[in-house]
Amino acid sequence: MTTLTIIQSVKARIIFNSRGEETVEVEVKTLGGSGRASAPAGKSKGKYEVAYFPPGGVREAVEKLRSTVEPRLVGLDADNQKLVDETLHEIDGTENFSRLGGNTAYAVSLASAQAAASTHGVPLFAQLAGETSNLRLPLPLGNVLGGGKHAGKGAPDFQEYLTVAEGCGSFRQAYEANLQVHRRLGKLLEERAPGFTRGKGDEGAWAPRLGNEEALEAVSKAAEEVSGEMGVKVRVGLDVAASSFWDSRSKVYRYESERRTLGREEHMDHVLRLIQEYRLAYVEDPLEEEDFQGFAELTEKAKGCLICGDDLFVTSREKLEEGIRLKAATAVIIKPNQVGTVSDALEAAKLARGSGLVPIASHRSGETCEGHLAHLAVAFGCPLIKAGVLGGERVAKMNELLRIEENYGRALPLASLKT
Ligand code: PGA
Ligand code: ZN
Repeated sequence: MTTLTIIQSVKARIIFNSRGEETVEVEVKTLGGSGRASAPAGKSKGKYEVAYFPPGGVREAVEKLRSTVEPRLVGLDADNQKLVDETLHEIDGTENFSRLGGNTAYAVSLASAQAAASTHGVPLFAQLAGETSNLRLPLPLGNVLGGGKHAGKGAPDFQEYLTVAEGCGSFRQAYEANLQVHRRLGKLLEERAPGFTRGKGDEGAWAPRLGNEEALEAVSKAAEEVSGEMGVKVRVGLDVAASSFWDSRSKVYRYESERRTLGREEHMDHVLRLIQEYRLAYVEDPLEEEDFQGFAELTEKAKGCLICGDDLFVTSREKLEEGIRLKAATAVIIKPNQVGTVSDALEAAKLARGSGLVPIASHRSGETCEGHLAHLAVAFGCPLIKAGVLGGERVAKMNELLRIEENYGRALPLASLKT
């Protein structure tokens, strides 16, 4: 019998992401199906992420796909994700995908998985998860107000103010709660933020001229109002993205919007106070990416609030192992293009779950209009997905989860913050 999942061709083209930057899109054809996928890009990147593209950029990536990747992948079985991904590592031959580019590898890896799924006529999440009995629909953790590297001068130093609704009966309701908070917050900001033009940052979150804590107050108020109206509990979180305002030379955090600097201890106390005062459910990258010890201290003190590593772990097995050993966090961001392949990301998510950490599937600030991340979140067993609230490229992921809920919702209960 012919194996319909054998790869027949791997083609690439250059497309644009939501920031208008060039990125790579890959199409993989098998005997019996096809898959298409593209890679996103970060702006507040972790220092230890893999390289996105070869030294010659996206054009070199496309050329390499034609000259070295396609000849090696044609004939492989797309059902064997591990082999496809190992082959990508072999072709690259470096520790950090610096020859091929992690984004190149990721687009191929994902397109190949999609091609296998389409050949079998199953959804991508089922193809990747294999065993589907314990899967859940993730809760959406949505960015409603943003600053840092995703917005202009005058916006808060903290990169993302996030909300997540507890006590919802469906994914749809949980997403609607985030949409409602985003809307309500827009109105509040018209009253509270001087010169507010309804401008948004790279991830579709409001980007007002407001201090860090004033922004937190506004988000908390919007979350409270929506909680009361919808009969759910909308909790608030932050992605501090602390590396982006850490001055490694002077060893201080530079709060530009407040025109002040805080030493490591002061900054930590400040974050802890915000966690307690605003009963935050989630804080990502509260400290700079090298400070595992500081993360561990905060995790110990901030009981009841998820402390999550993004730049800290960069979805890397080794970094995550160190974090687990030091009890540096209770959650980890899973961004497949930080490591380059679907298998590497899946392995990181598994390691996290096995060690009691919450894996969270995440978009990047520069996204494409695909919904694949929704499937990865389900397949990886992530109780949370961080993929924004508004903007076509963000809504694409949410809409895909609505489709999954409609088609498979009976078998996929909604996750909770505690799972
Ligand atoms: P990035 O930021 O995609 O711009 O790197 C997202 C994040 O820090 O979570
Ligand atoms: Zn982050």
